[in-house]
Amino acid sequence: MSSKKRIVSGMRPTGSIHLGNFHGALANWIKMQNEYEAFYFVADWHALTSEYENPANILQNSHDMLIDWLASGLDPEKATIFIQSQIKEHAELYLLLSMITPTTWLERNPTYKEQILALSNKDLSTFGFLGYPVLQAADIIMYKANAVPVGVDQIPHVEITREIVRRFNRLYGKVFPEPQAALAQSPKILGIDRQKMSKSYNNAIYLSDTPENITKKAAAMVTDPQRSRKTDPGSPSICNVYEFHKLYTPKSVRNNIEEDCKKAKIGCVECKKIMSANLIEFLAPSMEKREYYLSNPNILKDIIQSGNKKAQAVASATMEEVRAAVKL
Ligand code: TRP
Ligand code: SF4
Repeated sequence: MSSKKRIVSGMRPTGSIHLGNFHGALANWIKMQNEYEAFYFVADWHALTSEYENPANILQNSHDMLIDWLASGLDPEKATIFIQSQIKEHAELYLLLSMITPTTWLERNPTYKEQILALSNKDLSTFGFLGYPVLQAADIIMYKANAVPVGVDQIPHVEITREIVRRFNRLYGKVFPEPQAALAQSPKILGIDRQKMSKSYNNAIYLSDTPENITKKAAAMVTDPQRSRKTDPGSPSICNVYEFHKLYTPKSVRNNIEEDCKKAKIGCVECKKIMSANLIEFLAPSMEKREYYLSNPNILKDIIQSGNKKAQAVASATMEEVRAAVKL
């Protein structure tokens, strides 16, 4: 047995990963795989809770997302990478947990209320959607996770998981540790139009964009809204392009840009060119790895198969314990 603490996290398969997803979650996963025994999975059943009317893209989206995970440095030698729907034990544990979860916990879940309003084009008044956090609890505790690397938006879900664990352990004996949310500080980067970066807003830069595309998108970025001419002094502190520089441009160069912008000595066109060149350089290693995985589809298949197998072994051991505890 490894003495490392265990972490579990999942992502719904929304397709290719953009910089917002990368810095918001994936970068942290990549870092944490070195310090923890990590289980990372594609939450395709969770995708189905809102995409049940149109499930046709889930498989392709899972594939694209997995390629981006591997290309940007998730390492199957370090982390167990698997697909939720392939580990049927998740469904069994979800069912058992549903028996002990009061519906009031789910109805008062802030994410639930928000999502129903936000996705008003979808009918989310289903049992499955209400039960989303119960499935998430099953995902997490199946592997007896100590910590769950997630963004702030997922805190209510981890909180429900903890409540379910306490209840389970009280009713049936102590089987599960109480997991904690592991929050990463992530930089705030916005889409090219300064709204939240999102696939559905059409304002995202993807890890899989070509260099030409990245240069074009960067050129179209909204900058300091108060600066309309090159002769106007700018304010990097309110400029989204400058937020990107903070991530991709070496500090010394960036400091000069900051000064020059404030003194109107650099124009936004040039500034964006410098940024996009650095962003492309930052993404270059992952572009190369992506090509490798795309041209060797069997390697991806093998990685998933062996990840599923490892997850399966842990899940079946947990379920034996669970069935015994519940006296089934
Ligand atoms: N709800 C998470 C999200 O939307 C995805 C998820 C599903 C998850 N199961 C999980 C995250 C278990 C962490 C642990 O991002
Ligand atoms: Fe933003 Fe750069 Fe233009 Fe300054 S020069 S406003 S930092 S894009």
